[in-house]
Amino acid sequence: MAKTWFITGTSSGFGQALAKIIAQHEDVNLIAAARNLADLAYLNDYDQTAIEKVVMDVTNKDQIAEAVKQGQARFGGIDVLVNNAGLGYFGTVEESNEADVRQLFDVNVFGLANVTKAVLPVMRQQKSGLIINVSSVLGITSLPTFGWYSATKFAVEGVPNVLRQEVKGLGIKVMLVEPSGARTKWNAGKTAPVEINDYQQFAEMISGAASGTTQAPGDPVRIAQLMFDVATADEPVPGHLPLGEFATNGMKQELSTSLAEVEQYHELSLKADAPA
Ligand SMILES: NC(=O)c1ccc[n+]([C@@H]2O[C@H](COP(=O)([O-])OP(=O)(O)OC[C@H]3O[C@@H](n4cnc5c(N)ncnc54)[C@H](OP(=O)(O)O)[C@@H]3O)[C@@H](O)[C@H]2O)c1
Repeated sequence: MAKTWFITGTSSGFGQALAKIIAQHEDVNLIAAARNLADLAYLNDYDQTAIEKVVMDVTNKDQIAEAVKQGQARFGGIDVLVNNAGLGYFGTVEESNEADVRQLFDVNVFGLANVTKAVLPVMRQQKSGLIINVSSVLGITSLPTFGWYSATKFAVEGVPNVLRQEVKGLGIKVMLVEPSGARTKWNAGKTAPVEINDYQQFAEMISGAASGTTQAPGDPVRIAQLMFDVATADEPVPGHLPLGEFATNGMKQELSTSLAEVEQYHELSLKADAPA
């Protein structure tokens, strides 16, 4: 029986690359979500019998409910949800704009939660499913000017890590993908330009991001293909999938530094517990 994938944010970047991979597979159905259906015209090049386009802003619960209903009605279920839609934002912690940061959380965190909660009843009823969450290496470690973006991706890590445990007995799997920086339009996300002189060293990083020019190593097509390959491999899906050298090395560095500190303060830490 054909598997059905539901992907958010398929207008561009990773989402579009993954949608194209799935659209080429005869035995896989695609529910492609985008805020504007016109952005999905590229899918007209593929066989339409296994493609359903749905309008969905991840911050709009009515659109999410309608999209899930439409996809389910067309294909009878949802086997794989890919929470891919997301925004970028570049600015120092102090200079970032609160309204922009709240919008970032609305899309990257609450949007992902909204879609997940709408699809979970379908998967619970099926007693099967896989939820893939596109996080980032910056959901494990971080860099100057990415503080608030990282904060959203740390939340994107936290919620699925718990959900994985809660749905373990229900036949539902949860995977996090942590790509390196990649060559997508995400790099032209919103920015908070440096105005405080003390942060001048970060001005170029932010203006570079604003211009959308990127030397990022990640190739969106390769990243999408690897996500698909790991998700469809005949072995258990990993909890975390770093993709790219920067992602793998960044995660190793962060986790080994944290582990070394935990070991260093091990004896002191145990003194915090009340005596037995
Ligand atoms: N590129 C990187 O360096 C990188 C690295 C690691 C992780 N990521 C993550 O990868 C995911 C995909 O990003 P990308 O790099 O492929 O960038 P992208 O090309 O900008 O794609 C982002 C997608 O999210 C959609 N989106 C934004 N706000 C939305 C909303 N409110 N509702 C529904 N869809 C919305 C966009 O749709 P519109 O076209 O309508 O705006 C677009 O389809 C994001 O979660 C991002 O944080 C990116």
